[in-house]
Amino acid sequence: RVSAASEALDRLIATVPGFPEPGILFRDLTPVLADPDALRAVASELAASAHGPYDAIAGVEARGFALAAAAAAVSGTGLVLIRKAGKLPRAVYRREYALEYGTAALELHRDELPRGSRVLLVDDVLATGGTLEAALGLLADAGLQVAGVSVALELAALGGRARLARDDVRAIAVV
Ligand code: PRP
Repeated sequence: RVSAASEALDRLIATVPGFPEPGILFRDLTPVLADPDALRAVASELAASAHGPYDAIAGVEARGFALAAAAAAVSGTGLVLIRKAGKLPRAVYRREYALEYGTAALELHRDELPRGSRVLLVDDVLATGGTLEAALGLLADAGLQVAGVSVALELAALGGRARLARDDVRAIAVV
């Protein structure tokens, strides 16, 4: 079964060799955001991907924000921002994660949602899984229940799904 969203992703994602550096095959989702039918289909499938009801969608900076916001609008829930370090102005939880060289950190406002709220976590791409692992840590720190983890595109060769070790990771398209 091929959904409208997976068909749109297969058709519209641009594969760019050598970006941002030689040897990398970059998957560019911006054409999906620019296409009204594709954006609606992907947002709708993300919004429907949770295992049960949820109170909000959490999106990961930066490209994850676009899809998470669209999905939140479709689902009639709020949007929670998981941001790179130093961007959120109030008290935060912070989780570091490994990059190819060095580390980065993600942050979440401590008081964004009441503890026990149910949250669907959304990002654009699952690669090594380090980003979503850190994001899940933040949701746990904040006492939030995870109602699903969903991405538009999974890069299967990078092993992120195994790293996350959850049975609720959904990807609309896989390469
Ligand atoms: C990209 C992508 C995911 C993450 C996936 O974000 O949007 O968030 O990488 O990679 P991983 O599974 O190996 O952690 P990036 O950090 O490039 O940030 P951006 O969206 O702000 O460009």
